[in-house]
Amino acid sequence: MAVLPILQYPDPRLHRKAAPVTRFDAALERLARDLIDTMQAAHGVGLAATQVDVHQRVLVADASETHDQPVVYVNPVIVAGEGDSTLEEGCLSVPGIYDRVARHERVRVRAQDVHGAFFEVDADGLLSVCLQHEMDHLDGRVFVEYLSRLKQTRIAAKLRKQQKRTG
Ligand code: NI
Repeated sequence: MAVLPILQYPDPRLHRKAAPVTRFDAALERLARDLIDTMQAAHGVGLAATQVDVHQRVLVADASETHDQPVVYVNPVIVAGEGDSTLEEGCLSVPGIYDRVARHERVRVRAQDVHGAFFEVDADGLLSVCLQHEMDHLDGRVFVEYLSRLKQTRIAAKLRKQQKRTG
């Protein structure tokens, strides 16, 4: 088990675009395991590899009420989206900040498991928002970038101050 450090906004490494996974090997399985451990230790519902400074298209999500059903998504893509949703979001890379973001209400996501097998998930509610949020991370986008310029500036300043305090 390995709990990895999570990059904190406004770290520029959060803006790197992740590369597709081409090798379904033991290293990928280890990364998936570490992402799950890190997400669970932080009590998150989702975590993208980008957030632990690994720039490969891998994310984990667990929207179950019992927080014991994590799913690994390798090379995820949205193949269909419909409806509108504006749920309040938070992010393990932006601690203490919550705001509403406009997303699809429902998405169909196609991805691979750690062995390379393709699967599809029809998501709505929390899982739908979570998958869209985590897939944004893989493209180097953090949810606060959907907010106004003024809010983004305030959030970045607040987090920089917090980071200075905690060293
Ligand atoms: Ni996030």
